[in-house]
Amino acid sequence: MFHLVFAYFSHLIKSFHLHGIHSPFIFQLEKKCLRDDSVKESYELLSRFRESVAASNVILKIEDHGAGSKVFKTNERKVNEILRHNCSTEKDTRLLYRLCAYFEVNHVLELGTSLGVATHAMAVSRPQAQITSVEGSPEVYEFARRQLQENSIQNVALICSTFKDFLSQHKEEKDYDLIYIDGHHDGDATITYFESILAHVHNDSVVVFDDIYWSTDMTRVWNEICKHSKVTASVDCFDFGLVFFRKEQSQERFYVKL
Ligand SMILES: C[S@@+](CC[C@H](N)C(=O)[O-])C[C@H]1O[C@@H](n2cnc3c(N)ncnc32)[C@H](O)[C@@H]1O
Repeated sequence: MFHLVFAYFSHLIKSFHLHGIHSPFIFQLEKKCLRDDSVKESYELLSRFRESVAASNVILKIEDHGAGSKVFKTNERKVNEILRHNCSTEKDTRLLYRLCAYFEVNHVLELGTSLGVATHAMAVSRPQAQITSVEGSPEVYEFARRQLQENSIQNVALICSTFKDFLSQHKEEKDYDLIYIDGHHDGDATITYFESILAHVHNDSVVVFDDIYWSTDMTRVWNEICKHSKVTASVDCFDFGLVFFRKEQSQERFYVKL
């Protein structure tokens, strides 16, 4: 808790001090995407998907392949509690929606589907894109698969697998334009996944990390990733961290208060 509070105030100070962003690429990203608060028509679809998930009374048995839960003590969880504690918020899904639209992505990889709320937002944002999403817990995977099907989402390939197995079995996979890493919040695991996905990024890819302040371990790894030789710009939005590989940009860290 202390880590989170300290990190939040430190982020607030950095985002205030570094307000004048001198990179045109990051400046435009901040203005036209990250802090775009105009209401999009499709946000209604995102809300309806969330409502349909929240209305479920189903209880799912969880197979935990991650770093465990800070909230749940048993492996049987109500869907609406998973939605409240483990899934992207409405604000997060809108941001992912805007990121996919802004970068006009065609190939997306999500590690950690959960109930599919972020998957749905990205799929709705870019119906022409192929979204691959990986979930290791079979009952959770099955719930998300049905929800996406009932909401007529056709551009998602949902895969039931551990991240490790998926990444080792898909080495020949194409490059992704956007990769969203949102599961297994363990520092060493996250850095291993990051190193594996480096084989699947191109100059204009963006990798989005959720929960970079979830623990001191996750923050340590986020700092390591920002200094990685392949990473140029990184944007710390507190809830999310974004990293870029654009060779035309020198390595620099940016802080944006959303
Ligand atoms: C935080 S939730 C994902 C939330 C979702 N991306 C969203 O935005 O709503 C993380 C999910 O990743 C799955 N997960 C965690 N570690 C995993 C691993 N090593 N392999 C496969 N799935 C994993 C969990 O079962 C959980 O459903």
